[in-house]
Order: sequence, then C-alpha cells, then structure tokens
Amino acid sequence: MTAADTAERRERVLAALATAGAAGVSGEALASDLGCSRAAVHRHVEALRRDGVEVVSAHDGYRLGDGEDPVVPGLVAPRLSPPLAGPVVWASETGSTNDDLTMRARDGAPEGTIVGADRQSAGRGRRGRAWVADRGDALLVSVLLRPPVAPVDVALLPLVVAVGAADALGDDARIVWPNDILVGGRKVAGILCEMSADQERVAWAVAGIGVNVRAAPPLDDARWTPGALADAGPAPPRADLLVALMEGIGRRYAAWIADGPTGIVAAFAARDALVGHGVTVSLGDEDVVGTCAGTDELGRLRIVTAAGERLLGAGEVVRVTR
Ligand code: BTN
Repeated sequence: MTAADTAERRERVLAALATAGAAGVSGEALASDLGCSRAAVHRHVEALRRDGVEVVSAHDGYRLGDGEDPVVPGLVAPRLSPPLAGPVVWASETGSTNDDLTMRARDGAPEGTIVGADRQSAGRGRRGRAWVADRGDALLVSVLLRPPVAPVDVALLPLVVAVGAADALGDDARIVWPNDILVGGRKVAGILCEMSADQERVAWAVAGIGVNVRAAPPLDDARWTPGALADAGPAPPRADLLVALMEGIGRRYAAWIADGPTGIVAAFAARDALVGHGVTVSLGDEDVVGTCAGTDELGRLRIVTAAGERLLGAGEVVRVTR
C-alpha cells in the first residue's frame, strides 16, 4: 500500500468517526467499509492518536473525544461550490498554510485550492507578526485565487476577502481596514493576503484566514483585545465555518470580478469599524492623524486631515478615537 493509500484510509476512518458522533462506530463496520482487517483499523486509529486526535475506545468500536472538532477534506469538499470549490488539503500540523499554498500556487494549483491545518508552528500575521493558536482552537486556512484583474486593481482583494469573511461571521462582524475582523469589539479573525504579479497580470493570490473559534490566544498585536466566536455562544463546528467562509468569500470575489469594485466598497462601508472615527495611521516614518472617511475603489483608506484628504494604500491604524 502506498503512503497516499494509507493517508486516504486514515482520512476515511476520521470521516466515519466524525459522521458517527457520540454514538461511535464499531471496528467491524470500519473494517468492512475500508476493506481491511480490524488490526489495520486499529493501526489507523493509533496513527490518528499520534497526530493528536482523541479517539476513545468504546465497547467494540471507537468514537471521537468530546473536544474534537475535525475538518475532514472528504466531507467538506462536496459542500463547496465555485469559484472556491477545492481541492481541500488538510494537515494535522504544518508551518504556515500560506507558505504551503504558495508552493502549490507556483506549481500551478487551480483557483479555489484550499489548504488548512489544525495547528501551525510558524503561523504568520500581517506586518511580520506571528499568528498563534492552540491545536484545534482556530480555523487556520488559506485559499488560492487567480483574479483576472489588472495588477493595479488587485489592491482591493484584501478588502474583498474581508467583506466575504465578515459575511460568514455574522451581522455583527465589523472590519478594521484593511482586513481585521472584530466581533463585539474584539478581534476574532485576521487575514493575510499575499500575491505575485508582474506588470500585466496577477499570477496568484493566497488569502490566509485565521479565525479564533474556541479560544482567543494572546494576540501579537497590541491594538486589539483578542476574542473568539465561543465568547458569544456555542461556536460553530470548524467544518461548517470553513464552508461558510468559502461561500462568503467566493460570492464577493465573483461579484468583484463580474461587476467591479463599487459593490465591494459599499459592502465594506456597511461594516467599516473606522469610518467617522478619529484615527492615527502609522506609515513607518510618518503618522497620519485625521478622521476616517472610508475607502476608495482601490482599497485605499481615506483620511481627512487638517491639511486635506490623504489616500493611504499601506500603513497600520495604530489609534482610534471618537
Ligand atoms: C493578521 O491579522 O495579522 C493576519 C493573520 C492571518 C493568519 C492566517 S492563519 C492561516 C494563514 N496561515 C498563516 O500563516 N497566516 C494565515
């Protein structure tokens, strides 16, 4: 049996356990489903345990531990629809899903390819910050886009992804330019968009999304108090959240490609946490202080300062006042 066959069977065991829920599944049923011996089933279960999955032995079978919230590609992929319809690759642990997907993008992976992990050892945030989450507490996922737009227009993409992700996170989700997502004033999700373009075309864009689902780890970002979806009630299963995110982002992305920026800018404005507030934006060598007047069609932040309006394509909002 090849390594790919073994991985495929292990995923089928996890899928059966995830589907069975608290009732569990017998070793015999698993063996017959996989066309292998019960000893082989046991070896797959042991491998899942080594990956950190809690599998409880119960009577003549197995069930997942109560805290398990698995994302199983074979169960998620059929629930996705274009333009972000997979393939879905899921790792128990990796360095950074953005790095993994970037490699696949360079190798020609199709738009809609999704790479996720239960844990990242080198998760990256914006501006060189780390993005940390304990195993299974967060949804850590990257999706590949190949937007057929001019390189100058792709500056709006981080806002397109933010609006789509906010749609998936509920009516209360607000966006801090360019793409931090707050719920109840706490940062529950961050987005890291990385792209490759030449003068004529965008070769690929990787949108990496981290959502704190069950718990909010310390945030390597002094501006916001971290939050988690579980702060406001029972958190959704991560697989459901992944499907909702891909649907939300896919819908906004398709509308942007078909209709241009106007609808995205309006949708962003409806969720904009900064508009009308006094802000300080650090450009590194300069602080711009003024009142936020929203964003323009290239995704730039509009700041009305004492000296007139500034349009900022980069920078970090470091202070928000009334
Ligand atoms: C931020 O708010 O600074 C952006 C955080 C983005 C984190 C996600 S988790 C999945 C993907 N892989 C990474 O290494 N980073 C992004």
